Amino acid sequence: MKSFEAIQQEIIDAVETEMVRFISEQVTEEQLQESMRYSIEAGGKRLRPLLLCLTASAFKNPLEQGTIQVAAALEMIHTYSLIHDDLPAMDNDDLRRGKPTNHKVFGEGLAILAGDGLLTLAFQLVSQASIDADKKITLLQLLSQAAGSSGMVAGQVADILGEGQQLSLEELIAIHQRKTGELIRFAVLAGGILTNQSASTLADLEAFAMHLGLAFQIRDDILDVISSTEELGKATQKDASLEKNTYPALLGLDGAKEAFAHEMAQAQQRLAMLEQVNCDVVLLSMVFQWFALEGKGVK
Ligand code: IPE
Ligand code: IPE
Ligand code: MG
Ligand code: MG
Ligand code: MG
Repeated sequence: MKSFEAIQQEIIDAVETEMVRFISEQVTEEQLQESMRYSIEAGGKRLRPLLLCLTASAFKNPLEQGTIQVAAALEMIHTYSLIHDDLPAMDNDDLRRGKPTNHKVFGEGLAILAGDGLLTLAFQLVSQASIDADKKITLLQLLSQAAGSSGMVAGQVADILGEGQQLSLEELIAIHQRKTGELIRFAVLAGGILTNQSASTLADLEAFAMHLGLAFQIRDDILDVISSTEELGKATQKDASLEKNTYPALLGLDGAKEAFAHEMAQAQQRLAMLEQVNCDVVLLSMVFQWFALEGKGVK
């Protein structure tokens, strides 16, 4: 059997090839293409496409091209969200994925438009993907909800409007679930939809993803405090300087770590339930090792 690393690399290679192929094919304006490809090709962990593809392959192998295309579209939306998140009007960051941020290289105007381009192109890619028409409509609807003004965009709004204010834990959870959780929820749900899972299996997948998504943003908050620019490829200690609402700010570092462990345990429990419906959870479980905080702290 192939190792997790080999499977992971195969998925990442296929998704990256598809993103570059589609952008190169569709974007004729030279500087725009350069700016879009700059952020796409800067790398990143590719967590969302991995989750989508690992979920799909937990039910059905081998992966189909349509699945890779939906995963590529999701990573394009995530990358757009990072370009905009880094803009001076938002988090004002200079480093992303180990490289100068898009607006630092191409200027704010082009960075905004590269983000717009990636967002729009993602929907075009799903609309042209090699999947059944009925699934396409379902996925387009879910993706627009997850990414848009009731999902990630709404979470980003609450995040910046909340700067300098002390929010409750409930309000903080609502930010994290939307700004980060929604795209992760889509990733896992799409893997189930693309492999024709029943409504009850989709509900189990969704519950798993909700815990995982929240855990992922708590982890990101913790890493901002304990990790380093070298390790993360982005500035650290940023959240406190922007007076962001984060888990460490609200609950302290230990409280944040406890909340992270709690969400991870819940996600694990939900995943275990999926074992009963012919879901090969072995690969998906690898994600838990990958999420581990051990060895991340420098302080
Ligand atoms: C960063 O996402 C922003 C969050 C939602 C936490 P990732 O940590 O997945 O960033 P990349 O894609 O690996 O660069
Ligand atoms: C960003 O959250 C979530 C997005 C939707 C992009 P953060 O602002 O904490 O992400 P980083 O720390 O800049 O990657
Ligand atoms: Mg932000
Ligand atoms: Mg940010
Ligand atoms: Mg962060």
